[in-house]
Amino acid sequence: MSELDDLNTLVRAATPLLVIETVDEQRVIDCFQHVIAQALHPLWRWTLTDGLERLDFNGPRDQQIAPDATATMTAIREAEQPGIYLLFDFQPCLQYAMTQRQMREIVQRERSAPHTLVLIGAKVELPQELDALATRVPLALPDVKELAGIMRGEAAAWQRQNNRPLEVDNDAARTIVRNLVGLTAQDARRIVRKLIYNDGALNANDLPELMQAKFDLLNRSGLLHYEYATASFADVAGVSHVRDWVQRRRAVFLDPNPSPALDPPKGVLLLGVQGCGKSLASKAIAGGFGVPLIRLDFGSLYNKYQGETEKNLREALSSCEVLAPCVLWIDEIEKGLAGGGDDGGVSRRVLGYLLTWMAERKAKVFVVATANAVNELPAELLRKGRFDEIFFVDLPRTEVRAAIFSMHLARRKLKVESFDLNALAEASDGFSGAEIEQAIVSALYDAGGNGAALDQPTLLNALQVTKPLSVLMHEQVAALRAWANGRCVPAD
Ligand SMILES: Nc1ncnc2c1ncn2[C@@H]1O[C@H](COP(=O)(O)OP(=O)(O)OP(=O)(O)O)[C@@H](O)[C@H]1O
Ligand SMILES: [Mg+2]
Repeated sequence: MSELDDLNTLVRAATPLLVIETVDEQRVIDCFQHVIAQALHPLWRWTLTDGLERLDFNGPRDQQIAPDATATMTAIREAEQPGIYLLFDFQPCLQYAMTQRQMREIVQRERSAPHTLVLIGAKVELPQELDALATRVPLALPDVKELAGIMRGEAAAWQRQNNRPLEVDNDAARTIVRNLVGLTAQDARRIVRKLIYNDGALNANDLPELMQAKFDLLNRSGLLHYEYATASFADVAGVSHVRDWVQRRRAVFLDPNPSPALDPPKGVLLLGVQGCGKSLASKAIAGGFGVPLIRLDFGSLYNKYQGETEKNLREALSSCEVLAPCVLWIDEIEKGLAGGGDDGGVSRRVLGYLLTWMAERKAKVFVVATANAVNELPAELLRKGRFDEIFFVDLPRTEVRAAIFSMHLARRKLKVESFDLNALAEASDGFSGAEIEQAIVSALYDAGGNGAALDQPTLLNALQVTKPLSVLMHEQVAALRAWANGRCVPAD
């Protein structure tokens, strides 16, 4: 913990005035408890409500000093043994000339022992005279070791309270600690406490709740959505290449220390015809990696945050890094990038930021973007090396259509074996998966909502009266296919 080392050094060197900007008061106290364990100085805390209190032992208070600033400064000055004084929210008192002067005298050690005063607050601005004498200490976020300590502390507290051992699954506990990285100690403590007190255990059942709690803390921009339901590749017909691709990379993606010889997977673009399962496949990729799925609402980036677009994108992306490992899903990416030339260059800057982030991010955030149209996609996005792969999700082949029928009939608890899947597949040439699903729904209505009455002829009839998009938008679909040919890897 390098910041503790820093604090240690500063205290050993008897630095007179430290400034720590944070709202995480407990963390400051914890850090100093560590420091005094080595430096053996008395540790005091001052607050306006309680005045001076000794923190390093629980003995009775010898004398009560009034919390007011002058009395406090006088008491510190008169203390013979050099001590560390944590002054929480003391800053307003410094507007008084008397208090300012007293503090200055302590700091300059004029008739005063070599104390260390520590000013702590969310934002600490000092009068010039004091500022010149102060050393500001940035408090970094806690690392794995410290987070593990927080978890042990909370576990011990629970055990004392409940008088029985906490049930701990060590693997899950390690995963939980790893997932707390990026949070302040205060937030981490709050989350761990909740996970423990829920059920008196720390195990794999806590992981989804942990991710959710963490997500809620981080999604300040409101641009991210936590998708509870990921999918499995078993739910999507016709994306076998995507499935195999993910399976081959899963171990490397999840490996905390991947071999430097292998580039960790970064992301894919799923390009394809509408309704053929791009969104579904994106969910299956998260399911395939076994990590949470975070959707970035790219389309509302502009209308929602006029003028703040880039800042919010930046925040959203860095939140994602804290949530890693995860899949970041940018559905219909063209909608967020098609600002054209009349948006003051915002969409160009957004694209530039996204591309730089994609190229430079170190965290395990796997990007899945989907798009229906290439002509709206900026060429930079499609250039080699941006995505690991661009998959083309085409209209389903005959066998895939049969599989889609089978899936959706089964999902509606209909008897799959009473249908001739091959005949249905033949009759639905040019249909997308979504259109097949719609045809089943509409045939169910034709059958009066009675699943048992739905038969082959009713379903065939529903197919016949549907004009699929591939017919209505023949040119667009043909152009997309022609573009994809040779440039993309077929999804199936
Ligand atoms: N290959 C498929 N396998 C199983 N179901 C499918 C498939 N394709 C589409 N469907 C069904 O159609 C629905 C819509 O598909 P999905 O939203 O994934 O398509 P999409 O390619 O993202 O379409 P869009 O371009 O309109 O966003 C899915 O929820 C699913 O029920
Ligand atoms: Mg979609």
